[in-house]
Amino acid sequence: MKHAFLFLSIASAITAVVLFSMTNLQADEADIEAPSIESEKEHPFAEKCYKCHATEPAHQEWLHSGHSKALVNLRHGDEPARDSCLSCHSSGYSSLINQAWPKEQPFNLETAVNAVACSTCHAHGSKLEHYLVKPAKKLCVTCHTMDCGCAGAGIIHQSQSEMFLGREGAGVRRKPSPHVKAMKKRCVTCHMDKKDPEAVAQHGGHTFIADFSVCADCHDDMDTKLPKYRKEIEAKMEAVKAILDNAIDPSSDAYTDAKKNYDMVKGDGGYGLHNIPYARMLLDYSLSLKPQIVGTASEEAPAGGE
Ligand code: HEC
Ligand code: HEC
Ligand code: HEC
Ligand code: HEC
Ligand code: HEC
Ligand code: HEC
Repeated sequence: MKHAFLFLSIASAITAVVLFSMTNLQADEADIEAPSIESEKEHPFAEKCYKCHATEPAHQEWLHSGHSKALVNLRHGDEPARDSCLSCHSSGYSSLINQAWPKEQPFNLETAVNAVACSTCHAHGSKLEHYLVKPAKKLCVTCHTMDCGCAGAGIIHQSQSEMFLGREGAGVRRKPSPHVKAMKKRCVTCHMDKKDPEAVAQHGGHTFIADFSVCADCHDDMDTKLPKYRKEIEAKMEAVKAILDNAIDPSSDAYTDAKKNYDMVKGDGGYGLHNIPYARMLLDYSLSLKPQIVGTASEEAPAGGE
């Protein structure tokens, strides 16, 4: 039954798409500019999942997620955008980048219509649970990576994945968060946690917003512990910053390493939220570089001075 229904639905969807693109070809050909908001949903490059899934909680939640605004924010962000930015800011990039429909309208920054939309993570043809295109544990880190190019070379804009996995830091060994082992679905466990699957969630689910209430599933003391950890890490951050501010040579290796570790912790909730033990290690290493950075014999400008 389910299959017959699905077949019919898909067949009619395909017919609709074909019919639609035929009737719309002329309009599209005439209009090579960025698609208007109203025509975006019907654009040949647009995924059509909403046609069958629009009323589901997943879709409703997604509309309120940062992911649904990824393309708008890319176009209107401070950094100059290029077509390659679409690889993380717009689903369909890899399949559409070499296509044109019609020829006059190639897929690029102007014509892209999808944000980080359903087909980024799902495809009906997939054999995985919920038709995921990749196992849940691998899904998020493809885009959420430190070297995303969104803030310019060498500038750390986000570091959640590297912090969570405990790698890429300077001068320290790898130290994955204890959650890597404890959570089979990794990021999804906290960011899509949802108590009532039928309801439209305000956080978790397809809003992808993690809520601290999830901590209580496994910890009974995190609401008192976490503020203490935060204070501890923030104090170390301040100490590292004071060293960096008083550096004798900002082009030295010691400075570069100390700054990288500092930026990684800062790029993660501001205080190493995704891996407190690793944040501690990163900052301790930065602090250990103090003699090289400020110079042992420096008489004036005492490091850490206000
Ligand atoms: C195709 C690339 C891509 C994938 C895959 C992806 N994200 Fe994102 N994510 C983005 C982009 C781009 C943004 C920035 C959106 C914006 O604010 O413009 C973002 C933003 C976010 C935010 C901040 C949201 C907000 O409201 O500010 C969270 C949290 C997040 N993603 C979690 C996840 C999780 C969890 C997964 C895996 C289930 C995931 N992402 C998979 C690209 C991706
Ligand atoms: C490897 C994937 C990836 C690539 C490539 C990428 N980004 Fe991003 N971008 C992200 C993710 C993930 C976020 C969300 C970061 C967060 O919330 O911590 C983001 C966030 C942003 C934001 C902030 C959105 C907001 O919330 O206001 C801007 C602006 C941005 N990117 C611009 C760019 C530009 C410009 C390029 C191309 C030069 C680019 N990005 C390429 C993954 C990527
Ligand atoms: C960034 C990745 C991502 C995007 C974008 C995304 N999903 Fe999902 N979706 C997931 C993951 C991961 C799960 C599995 C969650 C779990 O295992 O707890 C899931 C589960 C689902 C489910 C199963 C039931 C449920 O609600 O959890 C449905 C239905 C669904 N998604 C539909 C959609 C639709 C429709 C869209 C577009 C509006 C969409 N998804 C966009 C990652 C994504
Ligand atoms: C013609 C209608 C139709 C269209 C268009 C459609 N779907 Fe579906 N989808 C269904 C039906 C019916 C089911 C339930 C039966 C099944 O599991 O195959 C389903 C199931 C799903 C599920 C599994 C939900 C779960 O509970 O695990 C996901 C995820 C999903 N679709 C994603 C998508 C995405 C992504 C797109 C767009 C690229 C899309 N669908 C387009 C009809 C459609
Ligand atoms: C132990 C639970 C947990 C895990 C696992 C987890 N996160 Fe988070 N994440 C959080 C919490 C809590 C926040 C802070 C939410 C807030 O401040 O409202 C957060 C914040 C974020 C943000 C910043 C959102 C913003 O508004 O700027 C991003 C992006 C993010 N996480 C991505 C990821 C990625 C990618 C992974 C997997 C590599 C991951 N997270 C794993 C709990 C988790
Ligand atoms: C699925 C269960 C689970 C969830 C949910 C969870 N944790 Fe954990 N967490 C663990 C396990 C298991 C360990 C390792 C054993 C331990 O030290 O308690 C751990 C360890 C930690 C540690 C390092 C040990 C310590 O106490 O210093 C911190 C910090 C931490 N978790 C914070 C959080 C925060 C914050 C949240 C919510 C955003 C959260 N956890 C959600 C299972 C979980």
